[in-house]
Amino acid sequence: RDERLALKERARTLLKERGAVLVAHYYVDGDLQDLAIETGGCVSDSLEMARFGRDHAAQTLVVAGVRFMGESAKILSPEKRVLMPDLDATCSLDLGCPAEQFAAFCDAHPDRTVVVYANTSAAVKARADWMVTSSCALSIVGHLHAQGKKILWAPDRHLGSYVQRQTGADMLMWTGDCIVHNEFKGTELELLRREHPLAKVLVHPESPQSVVEQADVVGSTAQLLKAVIEMDAPEFIVATDNGMFHRMKQAAPNKRLIEAPTAGNSATCKSCAHCPWMAMNALQGVIDCLEKGSGEIHVEEPVRSQALGCIDRMLDFVK
Ligand code: 13P
Ligand code: SF4
Repeated sequence: RDERLALKERARTLLKERGAVLVAHYYVDGDLQDLAIETGGCVSDSLEMARFGRDHAAQTLVVAGVRFMGESAKILSPEKRVLMPDLDATCSLDLGCPAEQFAAFCDAHPDRTVVVYANTSAAVKARADWMVTSSCALSIVGHLHAQGKKILWAPDRHLGSYVQRQTGADMLMWTGDCIVHNEFKGTELELLRREHPLAKVLVHPESPQSVVEQADVVGSTAQLLKAVIEMDAPEFIVATDNGMFHRMKQAAPNKRLIEAPTAGNSATCKSCAHCPWMAMNALQGVIDCLEKGSGEIHVEEPVRSQALGCIDRMLDFVK
């Protein structure tokens, strides 16, 4: 504990000395989330992280999350230095959608509007017309559908099918998934709900349909946090990465939070619902990137400017 406090102090000092701001996701280590808040940075979902990094005056952004979040920050602010505690922190959705195969998929369907989830590489975004995050996917696809557009969607099949069911849009889909959310189980959730009849069920839309269908609220991490704060219920069953519980407990200390069941929620695996790549973010990594300049994100041209189009379109839409 003393060592952690010392690391946190060192990171705090370095952020100040280097004029840097920490932009963190809700799934990273609680110490990093606290440090971000205490030093004037932000902890949020992917949409807010992108906006915050773009709008903040600091010339160095330390992005604690996974690679696509650092890349989005760099695409939006090429003049800023974007550092990450660990450059190997990736995402199964990003890994499962290689740019060349994705380009071939797009080439085969030129009549479709290409909509990609934020959890993709810069090269994939460079081929897209729109980027969406989980907080605005429904409204953007709903808007395109109302204009009569047919959609090519990538890469998350669960989010894609949720959006498809809600909007009725014609969506041709890539079949990626999130290794964390894909593990939540509908039947086990039904049993757990019987034990907690007063609980509200909060679900991230990267979860399978059988889980999403039981939700009182489906939304991005920030939207799920808001639901815990605002909904009048004594307990919540939460189907998202358990890193999220840190902020939820701070924001609603009197509410009981229960992890939604995964195949591995058992005596042998108490924390299966935690992203291994988000877990790579640590205080030491923040110190190293600020001290040594390690973990710098570069996005080469012309990919950067090509990818900027789809992100800007989303940010203009949600304004
Ligand atoms: P949010 O945009 O909802 O924070 O989701 C990001 C993510 O990676 C969820 O697994
Ligand atoms: Fe990717 Fe899933 Fe990890 Fe989010 S939780 S970064 S979607 S692997």
